[in-house]
Amino acid sequence: MNHDDLLKIFAELYGESVQAEIFFAPGRVNLIGDHTDYNGGLVFPCGVNMGTTLVVTPSEDDYIEMTSLNFEPSFKVHLSEISGKGDNLWSNYPLGVLNEFSKKGIPLKGLKCLYYGDLPAGSGLSSSASIEVVTAFAVNSLLNCQLDLVELVKISQAAERNFVGVQCGIMDQFAVAKAEANHGIKLDCASLDYEAVPIDLGDYQILLVNSNQERELANSAYNQRTQECAAALEYFQKHFKTDDLASVSPQQFKEHAAGIGNDTLLRRSRHVVTEHNRVIEAVDALNAGDLTSFGSLMSASHKSLKEDYEVSTEALDFLVDEALAFDGVLGSRLTGAGFGGCTVNLVKKSQVEPLRKQLAAVYKSKFGTEADFYPIEIGGGVRKIS
Ligand code: GLA
Repeated sequence: MNHDDLLKIFAELYGESVQAEIFFAPGRVNLIGDHTDYNGGLVFPCGVNMGTTLVVTPSEDDYIEMTSLNFEPSFKVHLSEISGKGDNLWSNYPLGVLNEFSKKGIPLKGLKCLYYGDLPAGSGLSSSASIEVVTAFAVNSLLNCQLDLVELVKISQAAERNFVGVQCGIMDQFAVAKAEANHGIKLDCASLDYEAVPIDLGDYQILLVNSNQERELANSAYNQRTQECAAALEYFQKHFKTDDLASVSPQQFKEHAAGIGNDTLLRRSRHVVTEHNRVIEAVDALNAGDLTSFGSLMSASHKSLKEDYEVSTEALDFLVDEALAFDGVLGSRLTGAGFGGCTVNLVKKSQVEPLRKQLAAVYKSKFGTEADFYPIEIGGGVRKIS
C-alpha cells in the first residue's frame, strides 16, 4: 500500500481537509541473542524493510480515533478514558502508549489515526513494538513533547508490560527505534549502551521463513521464563555478587550451577549465560568478515533455545534442520520469543530460490501449512515520512 493510497483512505475516513502526517517504524529481526534482554544481557537485532505506517493528525475534539487496515475494530475513545484497556484488542498497543504519556503528566490532544502494517503479526518480527514505537514517535512529534528516542523506547516497553501484560525486555522497542540501514544493533540491555555494527553479507542474504504458527505471546510461557530466570538469579546471588543472570561468567556458572538443584533452572540459566557470550563471539566474527562462524553461532543459539530454554516448536526445528541440511546455508535459528513465528537463515544468494522451493514443499507436506518467505533488506528505524 503506497502513501497516496493511505492518504486517500485517511481522507475518506476523517474528511478531505485534514493535513495528515505520515510516520513509519520497521519490525526487527533478532540475528542472535534471544531471551537475554530481560536478563541484562546482549542482543543483536536489526531493522527490516517491513513495518507499520501511521497516518495521523491532531484534532480539537479530545477524542482518540484509530483505524487499522490490518485489525478490527476501529474505535473512538475520549481522552479521559484512555487508561481503560480492552480485552486483547490491537488497540491496547497504541492506547497503552498514550496512557504512558499521560502518566508522565504530558497533556494529550485528540488524534485521528490510520495504521497500516505489512509485517506478519505474531511471527516474531515485533509487529507490536513497531505499532508502539511509531505511535510514541508520532505523538512526541505532533505534541512537541521533546522526549528523546530512548525515552520513547521506554514508554513503548512500559505500554506492552502494563497494557498488554507481557513482561518483555527492551530489545524490540529499542531495535525498532534505533535500527540503521545495513547495520545490526549490538545492545547491552543492562546499560542500554549500544553500537551499530556494519553488516556486509557479500554473497549472502538474510532469509526469514515464517512457520505461520501463531504465537500467543501474552498467554504463552514467556512470563514463566522470566520468573524462572529471576529464581536462577536469586540462587547465583547467594554465592557471588551479580546484578543479572547474563553477567554470570562461564567460569562462575561452571563452579556453581550444579548446586542449583533444579534441572529446569540449570538449563534456563545455561542458555542465558551461553547466549550472551555467543553475541560477543558473533559480532567479533562479523567484524572479522567470518560469516561461517557467525552462521555456526546462529545455529548453536537455536540448539540452546530448543534444548535448554525450550521455546522452540516442532515446526521451527524442522525448518532449521531442513535449512541447515541445504547447501549454501551458513546458519539458521528461531528469532524472537519463539513458540512459533519465524526462523532467520543466512543463505548464499544463489541458493535462496532453490531453498525456498524445497522448504515450501517439505513443510507443506509435513505440517499441511504454507510457510512464507521474506528475503529482507536491513532497514532504518522509526522516522517521519512526510
Ligand atoms: C520478545 C520480547 C523481547 C525478547 C524476545 C526474546 O520479542 O518482546 O523483549 O525477550 O522475545 O529474545
